[in-house]
Amino acid sequence: MFRKMHMTKFFTVLLSLTGALWIPLSFADDSAFKAMMGSSFQPIGIATLERLVQDENQLACSNVKKDQLQLSDALKSRIEKNNLQAVVLPADQQYFGNWKEGEKIAQSGKGSTWSDKSDDVNGGSCYNCHQLDKKEISYGNIGPSLYNYGKLRGSSPAVIQYTWSKLYNAKAYNACSNMPRFGTFHLLTENQLRDLMSLLFDPLSPVNQ
Ligand code: HEC
Repeated sequence: MFRKMHMTKFFTVLLSLTGALWIPLSFADDSAFKAMMGSSFQPIGIATLERLVQDENQLACSNVKKDQLQLSDALKSRIEKNNLQAVVLPADQQYFGNWKEGEKIAQSGKGSTWSDKSDDVNGGSCYNCHQLDKKEISYGNIGPSLYNYGKLRGSSPAVIQYTWSKLYNAKAYNACSNMPRFGTFHLLTENQLRDLMSLLFDPLSPVNQ
């Protein structure tokens, strides 16, 4: 029985792998691909189908990747300017919170799924893409290591404002950034951003040991 289940699983995996190869080839036409995506997903709770629709920035970057061309300088700076304008700095100029809370947010990848509520607090998933604490051995490397971030960058007003804005809307500095736009899309609250700022800058935070 166990062996049989194993074989079934094997064929399921094989089928999905061959399927994964087949889909990009046969759906080279965008409209067929979009129709397939539209009919494969259904909206549940806060996970609505709007998530399948790319905004202007994502569309521009996807087209570039597909055609292996560069974004024109004009389009790149327009995207970055628009995203920088969408950044909201903390009204009270208070950029910092509690690094211990920041570490929890950086570790957590929870949130924004169909079973969450719109006012649930999300995690930041920072470790999915960045190294932060030397002691944490499980982290992704799509993004640069942030270990010793505050120690290396210092804490001048320009660095603090850049870092806040980067967390708020990563496309403000890199039109085709892969990093989620945490503030603009209300993925993280202002206080969570403050806690993450402390994680990056506080001399006592594990990031700066
Ligand atoms: C899906 C991947 C991804 C996630 C999740 C992510 N980042 Fe990033 N991050 C990147 C990439 C890639 C870069 C490199 C530059 C770029 O493309 O924006 C970056 C750049 C940065 C930078 C600028 C680094 C520098 O040297 O100037 C900071 C700060 C940063 N991320 C902090 C965070 C924090 C804090 C979190 C969690 C709240 C986070 N990131 C979540 C991918 C990610």
